Order: sequence, then C-alpha cells, then structure tokens
Amino acid sequence: MECVIAKAGKEKKVRNFYPGLFADELESIPDRPGIVRVFSIQNDFLGVGYFDPRSRVALRVYRFEDGPLDKKFFLHRFARAKEKRAKLGDFHRLVHAEADGLPGLVVDRFGGILVVQVRNRAMEVLRETWLPALLEVAEPADIYERSDMDSRRQEGLPEKVGVLYGEVPQVLEVLEDGLIFQIPIALAQKTGYYLDQRENRRLLEQMIEPGQRVLDVYSYVGAFALRAARKGAYALAVDKDLEALGVLDRTASRLGLRVDIRQGNAPEVLESLARSKTPPFQHVLLDPPHPG
Ligand SMILES: C[S@@+](CC[C@H](N)C(=O)[O-])C[C@H]1O[C@@H](n2cnc3c(N)ncnc32)[C@H](O)[C@@H]1O
Repeated sequence: MECVIAKAGKEKKVRNFYPGLFADELESIPDRPGIVRVFSIQNDFLGVGYFDPRSRVALRVYRFEDGPLDKKFFLHRFARAKEKRAKLGDFHRLVHAEADGLPGLVVDRFGGILVVQVRNRAMEVLRETWLPALLEVAEPADIYERSDMDSRRQEGLPEKVGVLYGEVPQVLEVLEDGLIFQIPIALAQKTGYYLDQRENRRLLEQMIEPGQRVLDVYSYVGAFALRAARKGAYALAVDKDLEALGVLDRTASRLGLRVDIRQGNAPEVLESLARSKTPPFQHVLLDPPHPG
C-alpha cells in the first residue's frame, strides 16, 4: 500500500476522526490514485484511505486503525449501520456517508428497494468491493442508483442513474405512517423521498388542530401538508416541481384529503400571498433544498 504524509498540524484532523484532507494539506503523496496508509510527519500511523488528486478532497480516510479496505471491512460497516437502524421500520436511510464511516455513500431503504448515491471518487472506484458487501448485509430485492448530485460533478465524475441490481419497478412506493406515496423513480428528486424529515412531520402532525391553516413551502410530494390535512387543517403546498406536485395531488385524492397546490418559485409565491388578502397561517414550513 502506498503512503501519504499529512502536513504538520493537519494530522490533527485525522486524529480527531475527520475523514478528509485537501491536497494542500498533504506533505507527500504517491504518483497514482489508490488506497493509501496515512502518516503524520513524525511517522505516526493515522489511518487508511483513498487518495486521488482529482477529488475536491484529495484524501478520504475510511479507517483509523490499520487494515485493508476489502469486502470484510465493508461488511462490518454495513452491518453496523443496519443494526443502528433496526428499529426504524422498512423505510429509512440505511447508510449516512461520513456518519457511518463511509464517506461518499448514501443508501436509502424503501422496503425491498435500495436507492444509492455514490458521491466521490473513492466510493466509485471501490464499488466492486462495497456493492457485494451491501447485497450480503441488506439483502435487497433491487437496487437503483441515483448518482447525479452536484458533489459528483465537482469530483469530475459522470452521472450514473439506473438499475444497479435486480429489476427496479418504475414507481417507488413509500409508506409513512399511513400515507402511501407512489413516486415515479426516474423523475424523483435525490433518492426519491426525504426520509430525513419524518420525525419533524410527526411533530407537526401532533401540533396541528382541526381548522388551523398550514403553509407547506418547498413541499415536494406534500408529506407535511397531507398530515396537516388529515388532522382537519387547511393545507396549502408550494413547490416548483410539477412531478412532485402531481404525486401530491394523486396521493391526496386516493386518501380523500384536500390540499391546495401552488406551483412556482417559492419567494414569488410567498410575496403574492403576502400581497393578497390570504388569512394568516398558524404553521409555516420552509424546507428549501440544500446543496449536494
Ligand atoms: C428538501 S426538499 C423538500 C422536502 C419536503 N419538505 C418533504 O418533507 O418531503 C426541497 C424542495 O424545494 C423545491 N424547490 C427548490 N427550489 C424551489 C423554488 N425556488 N421554489 C419552489 N420550490 C423549490 C424542490 O422542488 C424540492 O421539492
């Protein structure tokens, strides 16, 4: 295995379990991209990672003790991630990139289907190693890849979107506390559904009282708005994504709920609501997109 040496002072980041160093934080580097051992300038071992000068973060550290980045390593990381989320039901984020010691990999579980995002060069190169481990631990029926995020473009990697394993159905079915969303997978945003907001949606539903008015701005498929409507509130959803609003509309009809919809640029819609004589809203959700 080749070696990289961190510049004086920069080794502290890795000692503190920070999993990345920029090219200008490295004192000495190998000639070629690949798996490397990381050392301090005093020759103390710091970790094992993947080095590629074409990456925005040239060194990604995957383990802080010595050892290979092999299938066994990934089996262990995936098993740990699975164990942590064992009580979250069949719909959850299974792999949270850095937070699971797997920088550059996000995996969402939608029942038997996994949707993966490969965000950096390291995980792209190592896919032949981690993919069999993911299959073994998660035992999915199908895997769909949605590697088309900005961070990938910044790494200089092409988009990869499509079936990675099995036969993914065209429509992703997402169940959340009695709501069933049918989301056309090819048109969906990111991995298909914002599983990370589920707890906030539950909180909102607890707070709402019948007859209140709820404004769900940046609504996507209206998971907040639909919960408000089923509590007997008036709900207005705003988003620019027509496909997502179509899913919202169909979900509301199926459930016999009413959610009003405004398609457009949120700041403009908010201004127009402020100018008009719209009665005030008791709850306003603002969930704009975040980069990546
Ligand atoms: C983080 S997602 C919202 C997730 C949603 N709240 C949920 O719980 O599923 C952000 C949403 O903002 C929408 N969006 C982005 N820019 C927008 C804009 N300028 N005006 C309206 N919607 C926008 C996207 O289409 C996307 O649906």
